[in-house]
Amino acid sequence: MEYDVKDLNLAKEGKKKIDWAERNMPVLRTIKERFLKDKPLEGVRIGACLHVTTETANLMITLKAGGADVRLAASNPLSTQDETAASLVKDFGIPVFAITGENNDVYYKHLQAVLDLKPQITMDDGADLLATYHKGNYDFKVLGGTEETTTGVIRLKAMAKDNALKYPIIAVNDAMTKHLFDNRYGTGQSTLDGVIRATNILLAGSTVVVGGYGWCSKGIAAKAKGMGSNVIVTEVEPVKALEAVMDGFRVMKMIDAAPLGDLFITSTGDINVIDKHHFENMKDNAIICNSGHFDVEINKKILKEISKSVAETRPLVNTYILNDGRRINLLAEGRLINLSAAEGHPSMVMDMSFANQSLSAEYIWNNYKNMKNDVSIIPEEIDTNIAKLKLQTMGIGIDKLTKEQEKYLSSWEIGT
Ligand code: ADE
Repeated sequence: MEYDVKDLNLAKEGKKKIDWAERNMPVLRTIKERFLKDKPLEGVRIGACLHVTTETANLMITLKAGGADVRLAASNPLSTQDETAASLVKDFGIPVFAITGENNDVYYKHLQAVLDLKPQITMDDGADLLATYHKGNYDFKVLGGTEETTTGVIRLKAMAKDNALKYPIIAVNDAMTKHLFDNRYGTGQSTLDGVIRATNILLAGSTVVVGGYGWCSKGIAAKAKGMGSNVIVTEVEPVKALEAVMDGFRVMKMIDAAPLGDLFITSTGDINVIDKHHFENMKDNAIICNSGHFDVEINKKILKEISKSVAETRPLVNTYILNDGRRINLLAEGRLINLSAAEGHPSMVMDMSFANQSLSAEYIWNNYKNMKNDVSIIPEEIDTNIAKLKLQTMGIGIDKLTKEQEKYLSSWEIGT
């Protein structure tokens, strides 16, 4: 079997962590049990480009249980858990191409290795695998793909609008049981987890500036508030800004927040959210980091240019010294802080995201002939079923409409 991981001797540690994550993924476990029995993906080649974490490992194991032939590469050079990659290869016979800290060339070489499988279905987190396929001239046809994250979905919708998509996509991110939970509660908790692991700062009483107020930023702002921080939100969209105001946050321009913040966290999906004029107005020893998919939200290039020196002061912390002596601490090179400095979202929430991934793969395999080269969402009943299953596994029962109540709702007319 072909693979490229850091060290197979790490497999023992990785196996324990994969098993630990599985305990908190009961919905995915239920799907795995059905897949093992029914083999709905028998012989289907699936190429995945996802963060190589214990949760992703459980997704890969589930797909393999369904009969699929899977290959996995990292969707970010810093997020790979080398022990997880080793265990997937050694204990589960799943080819992985991912090494923490891999450079750009190796990153793309690994994507190529996944495409060498000639996948019928691609699974992306950020659309890099799909983009590589679309740029090349391959002698095989992909039947459909899934996309995990907001940034990837935005890229793919832009391609669909230009009629540039070569195969249909299920936007897993847009399922309710994905973005309402993973983006909000997962990113909220794992981002702060990453900041704390990297810096050990006290959040209580500190001023945290959150760039953006989408689902991820909402989670970050809420969790920081819960830890006792004074939270400031910056936004460009009026409705979202208003929502942040009414959720109880101070909202202002980034330039006005710059001198106030102790910690800045971006999660907008856009470039240069923190730029030269912001750095120039920050407090001494401010901490800046990013939780958006790409490392483009903090203008690192300019920060380097206006600094007289830079040094690693803790693992994953680079302290830039500006000409006037002020220090600015950039975490994890501006890459996803929650996956670079922590372990990503907890398994409990990835359970639903990856239930969506595995059911989307099954859906594509059963329906690709009727799907257009566009971006669509998983059928609502699958989404609702995932929520039902999650509630069941949490031991929570909910009420059901009575026949009378159903009738009342469906027969309402103006004037009655
Ligand atoms: N994205 C965010 N958290 C993740 C995790 N734990 N595993 C895979 N992808 C993720």
